[in-house]
Formats: sequence, C-alpha cells, structure tokens
Amino acid sequence: MGPSARAFVLRHTRLQHVPGLDGIRLHLADDVLAVWHATQEATGDPDAPVPYWAFAWGGGLAITRYLRDHPEVVAGRRVLDIASGSGLCAIAAMREGAAAATAVDIDPFAVAAIRINARANGHRLDVVCGDILDDEPPDVDLILAGDCWYEERFAARITAWLQRASDRGIGVRIGDPDRRYLPHDKVRRIATYEVRTTTDLEDLGRTHGSVHEMRGRPASSVA
Ligand SMILES: C[S@@+](CC[C@H](N)C(=O)[O-])C[C@H]1O[C@@H](n2cnc3c(N)ncnc32)[C@H](O)[C@@H]1O
Repeated sequence: MGPSARAFVLRHTRLQHVPGLDGIRLHLADDVLAVWHATQEATGDPDAPVPYWAFAWGGGLAITRYLRDHPEVVAGRRVLDIASGSGLCAIAAMREGAAAATAVDIDPFAVAAIRINARANGHRLDVVCGDILDDEPPDVDLILAGDCWYEERFAARITAWLQRASDRGIGVRIGDPDRRYLPHDKVRRIATYEVRTTTDLEDLGRTHGSVHEMRGRPASSVA
C-alpha cells in the first residue's frame, strides 16, 4: 500500500492553496465522488471510506485559523493531530512554532497524503497509521482534533479519549462546524471563525467553524 497509496494521492489531487489560509498548500481533490469511486476500485472494497484526506474540513480550518491567532498555544509544544486527514492541523501547528507534531489517521491514503502535504509545506511530521483511541493518550502537550463529530460511534470514542487526555493535563483543542454529535455539555466554545470547506459534499459557501476546549470534570468526580 505504501508507494501505491502515494501514487494514488498524487494522481487524484492537485497542490493548491487552502482558501482563507495564506501560505498553506495541500494536495486536494475537486470531486469527492470521483476519488471515492477510484478508492473503491483501487482497494477492491465497495465500503471504502470517504476520501476525507483529499479535502480541508470545517473543523480543521477553524483550528488552523485559531492557531494563527494564538501561536502561543503550540509554540515549543509537542502536538498530536488526531484524525488528521490531509495533515492540515499538524502542518499548521508546525508552522506556528510547535516543537514537534505527530499526525494520526486510520486511513492509509490519509497517511500518504499527510506525508506528501508535510513535505509540500516544508515541515517534518511523525505520521502514525492506526486507531489509538483505545490506548492511553500519549505523552504530548496538546492534542488537536478537527472535524470528528460527524458519526455517532466515532464521536463518542474520540470524546471519551480527549476527556481522558484533558483530565491528565494535556491541552485539547477541538475544531467543529456544528456537527450533529459534538457533545456541547462536555466542551466549551472558545472561538468561532468563518471558514470555507473544500469539499463538494458540503455547501462550498462560507460557514462557521468553532474551536472548543474540554470542560473540566466536576471536582467531586476527580480521583
Ligand atoms: C472529516 S475528516 C477530518 C480531517 C481533518 N482533521 C480536517 O479537519 O480537515 C475525519 C478523519 O478522521 C479519520 N478517522 C476516523 N476514525 C478514526 C480513528 N478511530 N482514529 C484516527 N482517525 C480516524 C478519518 O480517516 C478522516 O481522515
């Protein structure tokens, strides 16, 4: 899958500026259905996931804007971008001065795209392919999670994992454009931006993307 995933990403995307983000370029696709069908053919899997990696999503765009306004949040820190997709948040973190950034995604095509995009922007990222949501949160200073609340089970798992990370003192920033499964009782909105996603699965007009922190657990439930 390694070299062929890389070739697949390069064949189905073109390097372009991300709308509203001066200075960050990503290998993005224009037509989600065409890339999705190509993914199904390449993998022989009719249930292959949507090629999320080929687009910049509202949640990741909101985090990127937030980091531009608040570089002190990442400067000198070890950052993990969970469910990284194109690698956008990890690249933005490095751009704003993170000491190191790790990008994690379950999709091997995303992993190829993250490597290609990191290089295109002149940054070095550690890239992990896998599902770490049943593991203890790793030893990092800050976790970024862009646009992960679109599917109920994934939303529940990542919320619980981020809560664990936050309870251990790891900073958490969530980017979300008002997806259905974001648990508003567990997060606190700290910023809102106008963003424009790059996928034709969504309204390509401007929409709002917010950045949230985890709310602390009530003192009585802290061991
Ligand atoms: C909507 S995309 C968001 C990508 C990027 N963060 C952004 O905002 O542009 C969601 C990503 O979550 C990834 N994903 C889904 N389940 C995951 C899991 N259990 N662990 C890590 N990544 C996962 C998908 O492969 C996809 O790349």
